[in-house]
Amino acid sequence: MPRIAYVNGQYLPHSDASVHIEDRGYQFADGVYEVVPVMSGKLVDEARHLDRLERSLSELQMDMPMSRRALQLVCDSVIERNYLTNGFVYMQVTRGVAPRDHKFPKGIKPAIVITAKQTKPQSTAVLEDGVAVKTVPDIRWRRRDIKSISLLPNCMAKQAAVEEGAFEAWMVEEDGTVTEGSSTNAWIVTKDGILVTRTADHDILNGITRMGLLEVAAEAGVQFEERPFTLEEAYEAREAFLTSSTNHVTPITRIDDRSVANGKPGSVTMKLREAYLDRIARE
Ligand SMILES: Cc1ncc(COP(=O)(O)O)c(C=O)c1O
Repeated sequence: MPRIAYVNGQYLPHSDASVHIEDRGYQFADGVYEVVPVMSGKLVDEARHLDRLERSLSELQMDMPMSRRALQLVCDSVIERNYLTNGFVYMQVTRGVAPRDHKFPKGIKPAIVITAKQTKPQSTAVLEDGVAVKTVPDIRWRRRDIKSISLLPNCMAKQAAVEEGAFEAWMVEEDGTVTEGSSTNAWIVTKDGILVTRTADHDILNGITRMGLLEVAAEAGVQFEERPFTLEEAYEAREAFLTSSTNHVTPITRIDDRSVANGKPGSVTMKLREAYLDRIARE
């Protein structure tokens, strides 16, 4: 059964789907994207993902490629045409096609691609043993709140992590604070039992999972702080974990060459994970 992609108004077999060589996404990474999880054939936290897409576009002086309602219908159709039950929908919007020139061209139509991918449930080993992260310097630009398709530093960070057998990279600022993972948000539970994740300003992408989890933590009465935390604090932490639309809440049991506490997934992490999965299943 061929995978089907939506490309600028057409549903095409994945293998035939393509974009123009002068698409500004291809030439300048002039575009943004969203990854929306799908559970039981339904988009999860769809409104928040579309809000973030709209915000990323407007920060780059771009319009939504179609109305929100039309975008929802196309996503539903891509899910249906791919018989997707659990996985994610990938949406990418670029400024469009124009002769190569740095300044924003006038009067061109944004280009849009939507694909879908089925994923396997997270392995039990990951949940029982947790994952390792490797720290790397954060060499990215200063507008990480925009979900830009310009991801080369993130790819380099992830590659460095994988080469050392780690699952994810944690990026660290010159001042010693952790920003986030290459495609995930970073969390710790401090020695004093406080849940900490970095403030959502221009330094990180405000994850949709991050937003949902903060609500879940508040409902569960878990004390939390949104603030930068240092790598030293993370080394000393009682627990650590990462969040994203595709990894949900994943325990971290190793940071560089150090075990996090006793090297087992933490109880706050696992409690929050369960509450978060319950919440998205209910919705
Ligand atoms: C840099 C970065 N931070 C955080 C996240 C997590 O965001 P979300 O929870 O919306 O998937 C992502 C997801 O792609 C990301 O690329």
